[in-house]
Amino acid sequence: MHRSIDLPYADPDADWSLPGWLYTDPEYFELECARVIRPSWQIVCHESDLAEPGAWRTLSYLGEQLVVVRGGDGVIRGFHNVCRHRAMRLVEGASGCARKLVCPYHAWVYELDGRLSGVPMKSDYPALRLEDNGLAAVEVETWRGFVFVRLEDDGGPSVATMMAPYDAEVAPYRFEEMRRLSDVRERERRVNWKNVGDNYSDNLHIPVAHDGLTRLFGKSYAIEAAGWVDRMSGELVDRVSSDWWERFYQTHLPRVDHLPEANQRCWLYYKLWPNMAFDIYADQIDFMQWLPLTPTTSLLREMSFALPDERREMKLVRYANWRINRTVNAEDTWLIERVQEGMASSSYTAGPIGASEVCLRSFAAKIRERIPEARQHRAPPPGWSRRVRGV
Ligand code: FES
Ligand SMILES: [Fe+2]
Repeated sequence: MHRSIDLPYADPDADWSLPGWLYTDPEYFELECARVIRPSWQIVCHESDLAEPGAWRTLSYLGEQLVVVRGGDGVIRGFHNVCRHRAMRLVEGASGCARKLVCPYHAWVYELDGRLSGVPMKSDYPALRLEDNGLAAVEVETWRGFVFVRLEDDGGPSVATMMAPYDAEVAPYRFEEMRRLSDVRERERRVNWKNVGDNYSDNLHIPVAHDGLTRLFGKSYAIEAAGWVDRMSGELVDRVSSDWWERFYQTHLPRVDHLPEANQRCWLYYKLWPNMAFDIYADQIDFMQWLPLTPTTSLLREMSFALPDERREMKLVRYANWRINRTVNAEDTWLIERVQEGMASSSYTAGPIGASEVCLRSFAAKIRERIPEARQHRAPPPGWSRRVRGV
């Protein structure tokens, strides 16, 4: 089953995929980072990761280093993790807790709300006004317990707006009360970032390339594209799988009392514009984002969260889930690395998109709207992006 609802505009190139050069071209990559990634929301962590005043978490992408920190007033704020004096990195590592943010270079002191409050040898800088030199802020959004940042505001939708069509569906999962199951996992992939997302929302490859998912879901796998979100879902079939871990998961998944009957044995996947997704299982949820590194490499960043549940059965089922999806991930990695190489082939331009491929259509349409040059099936002559940007 597939359906597409409320696509915001008609796209004249709707029956074509994005062309291959968009997955390799350095000029296009720069433009795309500026117009698509910088203005979009990126997940950092869960609110419970910042439980105490002074607790902080970092996220780096596109050459920017960001830190989110909970203030003494309980508010979570986001800043560039860069000292205003000589640009030293303020906090080091993925997470920590501090009473104040003290620069390790010359000991300038910032309060948890970003204000500059201490400068050694202050009289050395007669023109320095502390109130004008607080940390550079970035926007923060919290949605259902998760903390997101964005580098620029281009008027794009909030995470809450993107997820609004499915708010009632995700509410019973109680994301706000979830806790981290494990540390952030980061893995580099030799693919353009769009290749990860294209594959995530690709419905046609499930029965071809994922035997395990096909055993688990039968023919129930469904997709839809609703504005800013793709939704995929599968219902666990009753027929017991021949695979040991799949069978274990099918037969041991405990009841989760706060979930509706329809969600007890359902796997739900949401992909949000433009580069993050979360997989919702009755036993846990996995967040994933794919951050561009270069035109042909990306960083996968993954986190798992769940409601506290000490049942032994639940722990084992979560492990089985991880085993099953580890295989799925390996299958997808194999596919997308080969697609990436094919995108660089001189023989490939754009490919046709089927009527059922509503998520690929939705994504390509949004890219074309932001970067009209993406309609061209071959790369324009070098220097094209300078002309587009008027420099
Ligand atoms: S660079 Fe931070 S105090 Fe000098
Ligand atoms: Fe896949």
